[in-house]
Amino acid sequence: MAESKKTTAKLRCIGCGATPDSAGQDFRCATCGDLLEFFFPGWLSESPDPAALKSLWLNRRTSYDVLDQSGVWRFRELLPHIPEEHAITLREGNTPLYRLPGCARAIGVENLRAKHQGMNPTASFKDTGMTIAASSARQGEFRWVACASTGNTSASMAAYAARGNMLSLVLIPEGQISWGKLSQSLDYGALTCQLRTDFDGCVRILNDLVRLKPVYLLNSVNPYRIEGQKTAAIELLEQLRWEPPDHIIVPGGNLGNSSAIGKALLEMHELKLISRLPKLSIIQAQGANPFYRSVREFGGKKLESMTADTLATAIRIGNPASWKKALRALQATGGEVEEVSEVEIATSKAEIGADGIGCEPASAVTLAGLKKLRRSGFVKPGDAVVLILTGHILKDPDFTIKFHRGDLFDGTTDPASAAETKSLQRAPVVLDADLGAVIAALDTAERSSERSL
Ligand code: F0G
Repeated sequence: MAESKKTTAKLRCIGCGATPDSAGQDFRCATCGDLLEFFFPGWLSESPDPAALKSLWLNRRTSYDVLDQSGVWRFRELLPHIPEEHAITLREGNTPLYRLPGCARAIGVENLRAKHQGMNPTASFKDTGMTIAASSARQGEFRWVACASTGNTSASMAAYAARGNMLSLVLIPEGQISWGKLSQSLDYGALTCQLRTDFDGCVRILNDLVRLKPVYLLNSVNPYRIEGQKTAAIELLEQLRWEPPDHIIVPGGNLGNSSAIGKALLEMHELKLISRLPKLSIIQAQGANPFYRSVREFGGKKLESMTADTLATAIRIGNPASWKKALRALQATGGEVEEVSEVEIATSKAEIGADGIGCEPASAVTLAGLKKLRRSGFVKPGDAVVLILTGHILKDPDFTIKFHRGDLFDGTTDPASAAETKSLQRAPVVLDADLGAVIAALDTAERSSERSL
């Protein structure tokens, strides 16, 4: 398979512009403390030929080479170079792009699709960043890797550490992550510490720990994570035959993913792989909305941290690390921010499910946000829209079962809104083992489906 030249990547501080040769253990600028990012100086003088890159990447889809089979490493010309012998891959990426016809009809947009990042090896989008960042840990000969997590980063990190013969330390908030995610990090052999705090408290402890112990930080402040996660957008554009959609909509938690997708869009535009920029919009849960408030109340000038609370536990984050990177992506692409309620999230999740696509609650904020953006006129009926679904439905079956049984909003202060979800609930029917009883249930279901047509 033809290879193009190795990419030269350099680090740069997003705050003061310093360009250190290497990053410290906390991946923050030694001068001003802001986040670091990769940039590619060679692109300014000798941009790669866009048509040649597109055909190189497409050809790799028929290759049996392990790196070519990864939907991340396949795009390695746009990533920092890591020698092949250090690469840890589970054949991540290569995720499907689905149409959502039922949701599209209900909302009044003609062209609605979902890129399902939950179809990655550990069932969330984190794998695309983790394959690159875990490989960089192996290249640096680290014995321990670590992260603070709401459950998906930890599941992904534990898997890639195990594949790369490294030990992993997970810090998660006790009682605030789903069992599905916790079970993954246990099975993949991580040292899993449930701390009596929230996600933001776990981050604080980990930041102190990496200064004292030789552990490699794998949260999304690690710029290798962002680089790997860029490939979701590159692969999306390839799937759209390089015809950009009008809107891409992502959930916002710690804001690494929106930063990565935004960075990819800007780089693809700079490299003339795409001719115009899609608008990148970021949606948060109302109870965990520090970025939404930063943009709407303070024009992005500052971010006030908060104590976050939402049933979408993946995005229960009150002090997002990458908010400045995400802000830049939002502004450069002309996107919007929105916040959505718990009922709106649960409703949207069931509506995506009714199109035959399962996702976890945090992913469903995208559809809930789209409805608001459609109502405000920011999204037009003829616009092409892509939702990024970040996690698989089986990550959090508890949420789904409670929703369908009608107990998700027990004790709510707003029972009227919760009641609006009733028509979407499909509670299991418990019957005697009797043919007549099953036929009666079938007939009842048939009559109610006729009524809803
Ligand atoms: N969706 C899911 C399913 C997530 O797990 C996360 C973040 C997000 C959306 C938000 O992405 O943080 O890049 O803005 N989960 C992290 C974790 C924080 O630890 O698993 P983000």
